[in-house]
Amino acid sequence: MNLKLLSLISAAAVFGAWNARAVDFEKEVLPIFKDRCFDCHQKERTDPKTGKLKKPKGKFRMDSAALLMKGGEEGKNVVPGKPDESTVYTSVVVPESDDKAMPPEGKGERLTKDQQELIKKWIAEGANFGAWKGAAD
Ligand code: HEC
Repeated sequence: MNLKLLSLISAAAVFGAWNARAVDFEKEVLPIFKDRCFDCHQKERTDPKTGKLKKPKGKFRMDSAALLMKGGEEGKNVVPGKPDESTVYTSVVVPESDDKAMPPEGKGERLTKDQQELIKKWIAEGANFGAWKGAAD
Protein backbone atom coordinates (compact mmCIF):
# COMPACT_ATOMS: atom_id res chain seq x y z
CA MET A 1 0.00 0.00 0.00
CA ASN A 2 1.41 3.41 -0.80
CA LEU A 3 2.10 5.86 1.93
CA LYS A 4 -0.35 8.52 0.80
CA LEU A 5 -3.23 6.08 0.89
CA LEU A 6 -2.16 4.83 4.29
CA SER A 7 -2.09 8.33 5.75
CA LEU A 8 -5.52 9.03 4.26
CA ILE A 9 -6.90 5.94 5.91
CA SER A 10 -5.41 6.81 9.27
CA ALA A 11 -6.73 10.37 9.04
CA ALA A 12 -10.19 8.94 8.42
CA ALA A 13 -9.79 6.62 11.42
CA VAL A 14 -8.76 9.50 13.68
CA PHE A 15 -11.70 11.58 12.49
CA GLY A 16 -14.04 8.63 12.99
CA ALA A 17 -12.79 8.16 16.56
CA TRP A 18 -13.27 11.85 17.31
CA ASN A 19 -16.79 11.74 15.96
CA ALA A 20 -17.65 8.64 17.95
CA ARG A 21 -16.35 10.12 21.21
CA ALA A 22 -19.19 11.28 23.45
CA VAL A 23 -19.30 14.94 24.47
CA ASP A 24 -18.08 15.54 28.01
CA PHE A 25 -20.63 17.99 29.46
CA GLU A 26 -18.51 19.35 32.29
CA LYS A 27 -15.38 19.85 30.20
CA GLU A 28 -16.88 20.96 26.91
CA VAL A 29 -20.42 22.32 27.25
CA LEU A 30 -20.52 23.74 30.77
CA PRO A 31 -17.72 26.28 30.08
CA ILE A 32 -19.77 27.66 27.15
CA PHE A 33 -22.91 27.93 29.29
CA LYS A 34 -20.95 29.53 32.16
CA ASP A 35 -19.34 32.06 29.92
CA ARG A 36 -22.30 32.93 27.70
CA CYS A 37 -25.55 32.07 29.50
CA PHE A 38 -25.12 31.99 33.30
CA ASP A 39 -25.10 35.75 33.67
CA CYS A 40 -28.86 35.78 32.91
CA HIS A 41 -29.79 32.19 33.72
CA GLN A 42 -28.66 31.40 37.24
CA LYS A 43 -29.99 31.56 40.78
CA GLU A 44 -31.45 34.90 41.86
CA ARG A 45 -28.64 37.08 43.22
CA THR A 46 -27.58 40.66 43.83
CA ASP A 47 -25.63 42.00 40.87
CA PRO A 48 -22.23 43.04 42.26
CA LYS A 49 -22.03 45.87 39.70
CA THR A 50 -25.42 47.51 40.15
CA GLY A 51 -26.45 46.23 43.59
CA LYS A 52 -29.82 45.25 42.06
CA LEU A 53 -31.56 41.92 42.47
CA LYS A 54 -31.10 39.83 39.34
CA LYS A 55 -33.62 37.07 38.68
CA PRO A 56 -33.11 34.25 36.18
CA LYS A 57 -34.47 35.41 32.81
CA GLY A 58 -37.45 33.53 31.45
CA LYS A 59 -37.52 31.80 34.90
CA PHE A 60 -34.89 29.51 33.38
CA ARG A 61 -31.82 28.48 35.37
CA MET A 62 -28.89 26.75 33.73
CA ASP A 63 -26.66 26.50 36.81
CA SER A 64 -28.02 23.10 37.88
CA ALA A 65 -28.58 19.92 35.87
CA ALA A 66 -32.06 19.39 37.32
CA LEU A 67 -33.17 22.97 36.57
CA LEU A 68 -31.64 22.93 33.11
CA MET A 69 -33.78 19.88 32.37
CA LYS A 70 -36.86 21.33 34.07
CA GLY A 71 -36.98 24.33 31.75
CA GLY A 72 -38.51 27.79 32.25
CA GLU A 73 -41.56 29.91 31.55
CA GLU A 74 -42.16 28.29 28.20
CA GLY A 75 -41.63 24.73 29.32
CA LYS A 76 -38.80 22.37 28.56
CA ASN A 77 -35.73 23.75 26.86
CA VAL A 78 -33.80 20.50 26.47
CA VAL A 79 -35.33 17.41 24.84
CA PRO A 80 -32.75 14.61 25.05
CA GLY A 81 -31.96 13.17 21.63
CA LYS A 82 -33.75 16.03 19.85
CA PRO A 83 -31.61 19.12 19.42
CA ASP A 84 -34.05 20.63 16.91
CA GLU A 85 -36.76 20.61 19.59
CA SER A 86 -34.45 21.97 22.29
CA THR A 87 -34.51 25.74 22.64
CA VAL A 88 -31.11 25.62 24.38
CA TYR A 89 -29.79 24.65 20.95
CA THR A 90 -32.23 26.35 18.54
CA SER A 91 -31.88 29.72 20.30
CA VAL A 92 -28.12 29.78 19.70
CA VAL A 93 -28.37 28.97 15.98
CA VAL A 94 -31.20 31.27 14.85
CA PRO A 95 -30.09 34.63 13.43
CA GLU A 96 -29.36 37.32 16.00
CA SER A 97 -32.41 39.32 14.82
CA ASP A 98 -34.80 36.48 15.82
CA ASP A 99 -36.79 37.22 19.05
CA LYS A 100 -35.72 33.83 20.37
CA ALA A 101 -32.01 34.38 19.74
CA MET A 102 -29.71 33.72 22.72
CA PRO A 103 -27.85 35.62 23.94
CA PRO A 104 -30.52 38.21 23.02
CA GLU A 105 -29.68 40.69 20.27
CA GLY A 106 -27.02 43.17 21.42
CA LYS A 107 -26.42 41.27 24.69
CA GLY A 108 -23.47 39.18 23.59
CA GLU A 109 -21.84 37.68 20.54
CA ARG A 110 -23.31 34.67 18.77
CA LEU A 111 -21.80 31.33 19.70
CA THR A 112 -19.20 30.00 17.28
CA LYS A 113 -20.11 27.20 14.87
CA ASP A 114 -17.98 24.78 16.95
CA GLN A 115 -19.79 25.75 20.15
CA GLN A 116 -23.17 25.32 18.42
CA GLU A 117 -22.14 21.89 17.14
CA LEU A 118 -20.99 20.77 20.60
CA ILE A 119 -24.34 21.69 22.15
CA LYS A 120 -26.15 19.94 19.31
CA LYS A 121 -24.07 16.78 19.71
CA TRP A 122 -24.49 16.80 23.49
CA ILE A 123 -28.28 16.93 23.19
CA ALA A 124 -28.34 14.40 20.32
CA GLU A 125 -26.39 12.00 22.54
CA GLY A 126 -29.03 12.25 25.26
CA ALA A 127 -28.04 15.38 27.24
CA ASN A 128 -25.91 13.49 29.70
CA PHE A 129 -24.44 15.56 32.55
CA GLY A 130 -22.00 12.93 33.81
CA ALA A 131 -21.24 13.60 37.48
CA TRP A 132 -22.14 17.30 37.28
CA LYS A 133 -25.11 18.42 39.37
CA GLY A 134 -24.41 22.13 39.77
CA ALA A 135 -26.17 24.40 42.27
CA ALA A 136 -27.91 22.50 45.07
CA ASP A 137 -30.62 25.11 45.70
C1 HEC B 1 -28.19 39.15 28.65
C2 HEC B 1 -29.08 38.16 29.19
C3 HEC B 1 -29.17 36.79 28.58
C4 HEC B 1 -28.16 35.94 28.23
C5 HEC B 1 -26.66 36.18 28.29
C6 HEC B 1 -28.79 34.71 27.81
N1 HEC B 1 -30.15 34.81 27.90
FE1 HEC B 1 -31.51 33.35 27.53
N2 HEC B 1 -33.04 34.62 28.05
C7 HEC B 1 -32.89 35.97 28.36
C8 HEC B 1 -34.20 36.57 28.50
C9 HEC B 1 -34.46 38.04 28.81
C10 HEC B 1 -35.15 35.54 28.29
C11 HEC B 1 -36.68 35.60 28.36
C12 HEC B 1 -37.33 36.40 27.31
C13 HEC B 1 -36.94 36.00 25.92
O1 HEC B 1 -37.25 34.84 25.51
O2 HEC B 1 -36.29 36.81 25.24
C14 HEC B 1 -34.38 34.33 28.00
C15 HEC B 1 -34.96 33.11 27.74
C16 HEC B 1 -34.25 31.97 27.37
C17 HEC B 1 -34.85 30.70 27.06
C18 HEC B 1 -36.34 30.39 27.12
C19 HEC B 1 -36.70 30.14 28.58
C20 HEC B 1 -38.16 29.75 28.78
O3 HEC B 1 -38.43 28.59 29.13
O4 HEC B 1 -39.01 30.61 28.62
C21 HEC B 1 -33.83 29.85 26.74
C22 HEC B 1 -33.93 28.39 26.34
C23 HEC B 1 -32.60 30.59 26.84
N3 HEC B 1 -32.89 31.87 27.24
C24 HEC B 1 -31.35 30.06 26.58
C25 HEC B 1 -30.17 30.78 26.68
C26 HEC B 1 -28.88 30.23 26.35
C27 HEC B 1 -28.63 28.81 25.86
C28 HEC B 1 -27.96 31.22 26.57
C29 HEC B 1 -26.48 31.16 26.36
C30 HEC B 1 -26.02 30.79 25.04
C31 HEC B 1 -28.69 32.39 27.02
N4 HEC B 1 -30.02 32.08 27.08
C32 HEC B 1 -28.10 33.59 27.37
C33 HEC B 1 -31.69 36.62 28.56
C34 HEC B 1 -30.43 36.08 28.34
